[in-house]
Amino acid sequence: MNNRNVGFQKHEVEEYERKRYRGLDQRLVHGRELRILKKIIKKTGKDSTLVLDIPCGYGRFSELFLDRGFSLVSSDLSFHMVNRARESSKELAQIFGVVVDIKKELPFKQDSFDLLISMRFFHHIHSGKEREFILKEFSRISTKWVILSYYQKNFLHLLQRKFRRKIKKSRTQIKMISRKELKKEVESSGLNIVQVFSLFKVLHAHHIALLKKVKTVS
Ligand SMILES: C[S@@+](CC[C@H](N)C(=O)[O-])C[C@H]1O[C@@H](n2cnc3c(N)ncnc32)[C@H](O)[C@@H]1O
Repeated sequence: MNNRNVGFQKHEVEEYERKRYRGLDQRLVHGRELRILKKIIKKTGKDSTLVLDIPCGYGRFSELFLDRGFSLVSSDLSFHMVNRARESSKELAQIFGVVVDIKKELPFKQDSFDLLISMRFFHHIHSGKEREFILKEFSRISTKWVILSYYQKNFLHLLQRKFRRKIKKSRTQIKMISRKELKKEVESSGLNIVQVFSLFKVLHAHHIALLKKVKTVS
């Protein structure tokens, strides 16, 4: 994620929403992510009533939670993303919006949410220390569950990325981590890995992990 993208302006949010999941491949990815999330929500069950979507982007997953009767807080660094996420619900009052910087201490008390969902953000964090800081904050403010998406290291994808960068097809630098690295970072943040879902096995490096809080680590 480069600096230009961090503070998405209103017109950029509109353009992003219009274009991001337009292509067939991206629609397939979005559909698969939704299916995995539905499975996870079945597992976490009814204990998850208050959900924090962080970062929420334009609210791609808002409906998923609202349709199941959960209360939703949508957070993002970009005010305009938060605003758009709120607009995506049938009634504005259904979603609370909070502008936050995930890289800093989060403005929520310990054990504030039953479930946190963080999709498509972790792979932009290149420093292990920073990832651990973020995970500790997620663990602190959650009572039980964290859904975290990350890119899992895989030789094929590393090669593919290198090649794409060479022919200048990809501007974003994605940080892929191994399952071992994820486990270490998750566990030192007071969480455990319950299950990891792969989007399309070897074809896609994106993974979604269900994490459970074990303790609060200060
Ligand atoms: C790739 S989008 C993912 C949004 C959403 N989770 C999804 O999957 O559709 C990344 C989002 O992270 C937000 N973002 C970037 N840096 C951030 C930060 N430091 N704190 C909070 N949000 C941030 C951006 O504004 C953007 O909306």
